[in-house]
Amino acid sequence: MTQPKGNDNLSRRVGSPAELTRRRDLALNIAAEAGALALEMRAKGVALAGHKSSLADIVTEADQAVEELIRNRILAEFPEDGILGEEGGVLNDGASLCWVVDPIDGTVNYASGFAQYAVSIAVVSGGITPLDWQEEIGVVSAPALGETFSAVRGGGAYLGRQRLTINEGIPDAGALIATGFGYDPATHAGDLARVKRVMPIARDIRRMGAASLDLANLAAGRLDVYFERGLQPWDMAAGALLVTEAGGVVVGIDCNRPSNKMLVSGNATMVAAVLNLISE
Ligand code: IPD
Repeated sequence: MTQPKGNDNLSRRVGSPAELTRRRDLALNIAAEAGALALEMRAKGVALAGHKSSLADIVTEADQAVEELIRNRILAEFPEDGILGEEGGVLNDGASLCWVVDPIDGTVNYASGFAQYAVSIAVVSGGITPLDWQEEIGVVSAPALGETFSAVRGGGAYLGRQRLTINEGIPDAGALIATGFGYDPATHAGDLARVKRVMPIARDIRRMGAASLDLANLAAGRLDVYFERGLQPWDMAAGALLVTEAGGVVVGIDCNRPSNKMLVSGNATMVAAVLNLISE
């Protein structure tokens, strides 16, 4: 079985360790403020601001307000940096470091009253798509769960101060597998077919509704593998670094980089097994 090598095609370092540490600290502070705003707005109810790809794909006023807070805080400290945000698009394209922001990942959970949502903030270098960027910093903060995950490239992944390590191998009892389903009904049959294909190696399936937290939970050893088709760059940027810094790999279906075509993540043995099954 060929084992995926993971994100080894980009290894140059943009930004000194000190510059990255300053941005990591800012990302942690911003995530705390953004999470507090999300919680405060949720306590007052949910105001729908619109729809995106389909009626199921909603934007709330909180998504917009939280992204605005995050953008303003980044620009106040690092006006030369790029920003790619779910709600506000791209700013300063071509900057050497770009912040990739999902203000509320798991918007449907947020609107429905589930705690499984997160502020996801990454800093990447080398481009503004997962195919060509290198994740430098990742912060995933779940305010309703009181958990904040963080990583700087080369420095390990943490839940608070606790260092994270991904699970090894394939468990004898079967793997706890997380996945997700996009908002486009046309893709659901394919998504379900892939779930059926991985069932022979599954202990059980989880569909929790926030990709950044699926990746963070994988980094924390709570899951064995996670795969999903149709993810956007901001869904995966921060969480992918958590996984690689916890010792895992994050790949696509036909190359060593994830994209909206597919993301598969876990330890290399687990990922190879899932890739074999879903590629059949
Ligand atoms: C969504 C969540 C969900 C995943 C969707 C994403 P959003 O992000 O991460 O788990 O299945 O594909 O779009 O829209 O809540 O930011």
